[in-house]
Amino acid sequence: MRVVDAERDDFVFEALGATVRNPQAYSVLGHHSMQPAQKLTLRINGAEHTIEVPPDMPLLWALRDVVGLTGAKYGCGIAQCGACTVHLDGRAIRSCVTPVGTVTDHQITTIEALSQSPVGQKLQRAWLELQVPQCGYCQSGQLMSAAALLASNPSPDVGAIDVAMSGNICRCCTYVRIRAAIQKAAQA
Ligand code: FES
Ligand code: FES
Repeated sequence: MRVVDAERDDFVFEALGATVRNPQAYSVLGHHSMQPAQKLTLRINGAEHTIEVPPDMPLLWALRDVVGLTGAKYGCGIAQCGACTVHLDGRAIRSCVTPVGTVTDHQITTIEALSQSPVGQKLQRAWLELQVPQCGYCQSGQLMSAAALLASNPSPDVGAIDVAMSGNICRCCTYVRIRAAIQKAAQA
């Protein structure tokens, strides 16, 4: 198991007054688990990955730090920004608040497999043609939410786009281009 920044973890544990520490505990950006690691098999982008992690580890952590798929990003860690969006059986979910132990019976799709679907390809083309990203940090989450929208509603009106994308925050304010790109992809 990977333990990140053990010195900082010791400091945090002391600061919290913790007296018992599970030697298998992991911590990334302050998230701690006291649960023992288990072997879990995840179905990600059509392939199986068996990993050994505490079942309450957020899926985002497992994807990025254990499996090595770093396209989904950490933004807020509390399901408020959408940077960590992936698909669970085709639905857009926030992987930062999804325990990895709850998704073993599901198909997980990440931004790394976006180009494997016709909808994903249309979105990628539209994103490129309209030069949507600015810094880019939020964009994998934006694209995954847009892909889930178009998969369930191939011709969304502006209202449906805004509702579907309302949980994805872009601090560079690329919202107008995102909306236009989704409309362009829907018409392609
Ligand atoms: S990092 Fe998951 S919603 Fe912000
Ligand atoms: S492009 Fe910078 S946060 Fe969205």
